[in-house]
Amino acid sequence: MCGIVGYVGKKDGVDILLDGLSSLEYRGYDSAGIMTLNNTRGNNELEGISICKTKGRVDNLAKNAKQMGIVGNVGIGHTRWATHGEPSDVNSHPHLDSTNTIGVVHNGIIENYLDLKDSLLKKGYHFLSQTDTEVIPNLIKDYCNQTGDFVDATIKATAELKGSYALAVVDKDNPDEMIVTKKDSPLVIGEGEGEFFIASDIPALLKHTNKVYILEDNEFAKITPDNIVFFDEAKKRIEKKYKEIDWSAEAAQKGGYEDFMLKEIFEQPTAIRKTIGNRLDKDNLIAELGITPEYIKSIEKIYIVACGTAMNAGLSGRKIIEKLLKIPTEVDIASEFRYREPLITEKTLVITISQSGETADTLAALRLAKKSNAKTLTITNTIGSTISREADFVMYTQAGPEIAVASTKAYNTQLVAMYCLAIAFAKALNLDYNDLDKELESISNKIEIALQKVDNIKDIAKQMYNAHDMFFLGRGNDFPVAQEGSLKLKEISYIHSEAYAAGELKHGPIALIEKDTFVVCIVTDNTLLDKSLSNIQEVKTRGAKVVLITDQKVDKKYYDYLIEVPQCSSIISPMLTVVPAQLLAYYIAKDKELDVDKPRNLAKSVTVE
Ligand code: M6R
Repeated sequence: MCGIVGYVGKKDGVDILLDGLSSLEYRGYDSAGIMTLNNTRGNNELEGISICKTKGRVDNLAKNAKQMGIVGNVGIGHTRWATHGEPSDVNSHPHLDSTNTIGVVHNGIIENYLDLKDSLLKKGYHFLSQTDTEVIPNLIKDYCNQTGDFVDATIKATAELKGSYALAVVDKDNPDEMIVTKKDSPLVIGEGEGEFFIASDIPALLKHTNKVYILEDNEFAKITPDNIVFFDEAKKRIEKKYKEIDWSAEAAQKGGYEDFMLKEIFEQPTAIRKTIGNRLDKDNLIAELGITPEYIKSIEKIYIVACGTAMNAGLSGRKIIEKLLKIPTEVDIASEFRYREPLITEKTLVITISQSGETADTLAALRLAKKSNAKTLTITNTIGSTISREADFVMYTQAGPEIAVASTKAYNTQLVAMYCLAIAFAKALNLDYNDLDKELESISNKIEIALQKVDNIKDIAKQMYNAHDMFFLGRGNDFPVAQEGSLKLKEISYIHSEAYAAGELKHGPIALIEKDTFVVCIVTDNTLLDKSLSNIQEVKTRGAKVVLITDQKVDKKYYDYLIEVPQCSSIISPMLTVVPAQLLAYYIAKDKELDVDKPRNLAKSVTVE
């Protein structure tokens, strides 16, 4: 949930660390810190180590670090999403051992830290913070005292850790090197000319290099400015080749937009075109995945498992899979799935969806499926992520880096990936797919038209931003969009909102509708039009103000505000109708003068349970 960075080189690394932390701030932004070694200047009160930590955002840290005049050729940095211990200067990373020799930044959770702390306290180590992380530098120091070797000590210390971690470790006694390792939390290393960069994700490295090593669980790297050596827990050398990443550095910048979220909303047509690519030609997608028609025929049941927005994408995925393939499909929240003893057999296909490819619950669900002998297919945006490495079949979305915490283009590319998958499976089984491939080819043009109506949505948002409660309604294919629209609104505007299947409202929640309650209704399915309109009538009668998102011709008496989208086959319409819902949430949050890209309490990548 936190972001970590590191620099090992010959120039001053402070700006590189601060810049890297800014681009990782989406992972957490309660507090931040950096620490440098080697040719340090600034607050050298710790003799050879400069450290600056502060509660709040990376901007604060940058100001403080500049004031202190910190420099250094080797450094680590951290932006935090607090788990153990409130956000405060002292709980911020990096953490040092009691002798101020070993410095550590950590992303993850150490589950056995209380036991470790207890035994370290008995040995005379002392602790300043309430974090789980502080045991790590002390444990490494303890092993350094025993072995006299920084690498051996780090290996031995990490063998004692239970939980998840990505770690960058520095040692004042070895001031031009860094050791990094990971388990169940991501860590990547970029290679430059005589320098290396460490980060929690690839976009944070792109300004410096596109040569990226992806560290696997329980692997270690010892990094000096001119060399990197990989090894395992037995100190056995591992040969690793870097991947050349083709995302551009600009893709991770705002590019003239006020916020990443707005930029990412507008990038959707392109991201969708890229995700479709030539996957719908012939049997391209089936070949890319390495799946045979015989295997598809053998599938008796599909589970789609994910969290949050990715789960909402799965809800639309189920509809198209069941419609085209007639395979019973269940969608589950990963944190529930992993503990509910789902009925998985070897004829079950478990599809996980994850933008980051690192979500802890989704990863656990995938591992459970594999343990139960099911095949696993993952839809992810992140090359080399843990989930992508562990799944049997991987389908990459081509959203490019998504920086805003609220997912928009990743969601839409997850949808199109699900649709492509269902169509490709249908083709492989010689089933009808109702020319949906052609419909998909034209969806980006329709989204571009919907995006041109942004001023209308801005005006509507101005009427809505003072609301305390809202409802989102939809039937059939429109219901998952209602759920996603409602989630988007909650996340970034902090307005309480509920999504309901429109027909369900009168079974209870309609009691909450009062005069002027805003109800956003999504209506695309003309076979259900009359029923949807009756439900709208029910809330209007009770004084609700209706915002209607539709591709149908609807009489004015049913709505107060209208957002029209181009006509589209209802089954794939979520890709289109979600766009005004995203924009509505965005402009409502802007009207409330909120930080749209970094909403309170949230982190983009949820690598803890
Ligand atoms: O990286 P993932 O797709 O696995 O993340 C899953 C959810 O945490 C994520 O979609 C979350 O709900 C977003 N913040 C929603 O905008």
